[in-house]
Amino acid sequence: MRKGEKGILLGIGLFVALGAGWKVLQLRDVNEKDYKIPFYSDAEPEIVERAGYLIKKYDCKDCHTLWGTRNVMQSVPAPPLDGIGSLKTEEWFYAYLSAENPQEILPTRLKPEYRMPSFKDMPEEDRRVLAKYLASLKVEDWYLDEVKKKEREKLYGE
Ligand code: HEC
Repeated sequence: MRKGEKGILLGIGLFVALGAGWKVLQLRDVNEKDYKIPFYSDAEPEIVERAGYLIKKYDCKDCHTLWGTRNVMQSVPAPPLDGIGSLKTEEWFYAYLSAENPQEILPTRLKPEYRMPSFKDMPEEDRRVLAKYLASLKVEDWYLDEVKKKEREKLYGE
């Protein structure tokens, strides 16, 4: 191989390497964008659809944020439901929705009109669908870790 040819091959090699590096960088960029929405549901489409209908019907979003949205006309300081399935189980949600007095399960300091209402009279099938859906609302581990870390910093200055 002559000197000139070597130079050309080296040039091509560099060009390919740079291109591959650029692609990797771009892919990382795309992934980083996805990471900005750390919430997802792993429920089957049928459950998602039925739960979506029930959440509207029972006005859950008058008080709760879900997928970052809620009824802006209301101002109840209820906990957001995004990612809640990473913290509690389907059985817990079912028991909570079925409770005569949900505050016995989850104590509250809110005024009575703001508190989580009892949904014990909701048809059992609907409570099952909602419990399944709530349990499917997950948050990415890295986000949960970050939130926990921030909480610790806030509470204990660690
Ligand atoms: C009137 C406002 C209101 C409505 C309507 C409401 N909730 Fe709640 N919910 C609350 C409040 C406030 C809490 C926190 C506990 C408390 O203060 O009673 C809560 C707690 C919860 C929790 C437990 C959250 C946690 O951090 O453990 C779940 C799950 C939940 N609600 C789901 C629902 C679903 C599903 C619906 C609709 C079927 C609904 N809520 C309707 C106000 C409401």
